[in-house]
Amino acid sequence: MRPIPLGLSLIIIATLSACGDSSTSGDKAQTGPATASAPGPWDTLAALPPEDQPYGLDVYTEKCQSCHGNLGQGVDKNPPIKGLTSTALQLKLLDYRAAKSQGKADLSDAEIAAVAIYAGE
Ligand code: HEC
Repeated sequence: MRPIPLGLSLIIIATLSACGDSSTSGDKAQTGPATASAPGPWDTLAALPPEDQPYGLDVYTEKCQSCHGNLGQGVDKNPPIKGLTSTALQLKLLDYRAAKSQGKADLSDAEIAAVAIYAGE
């Protein structure tokens, strides 16, 4: 058995310890937005000046109540809309408007947002 020369063993030790020494910490420059989701009803309304923000109850009374009831409980064959989140309601209404179905085609973005906030959970 031949002893490893001192110089060589020092190089080996230095090389091995260099591996564990590569923890250059604190590289956290990447703290951008994690999830850029679609604007919810609150964002839609907040983008408007206060005097242009419709009141959700007014929109509901005028355009929804006759079919869905004053509590969102549904009337006759019209389904209840209770229990949906405001965001889900907004998406539904945007879909309905795009399809021009159920008399919801004449709602503005702001009216949809307002009524979604009013009627959603
Ligand atoms: C002319 C009657 C009528 C009016 C007015 C009306 N709806 Fe509806 N709505 C319906 C019917 C019928 C359905 C179920 C059939 C369908 O999905 O198209 C429905 C479905 C919905 C749904 C989906 C329910 C679910 O469980 O998926 C939501 C949400 C909704 N309406 C919200 C509204 C809101 C908010 C308004 C007021 C802006 C409104 N509706 C006005 C008749 C109406």
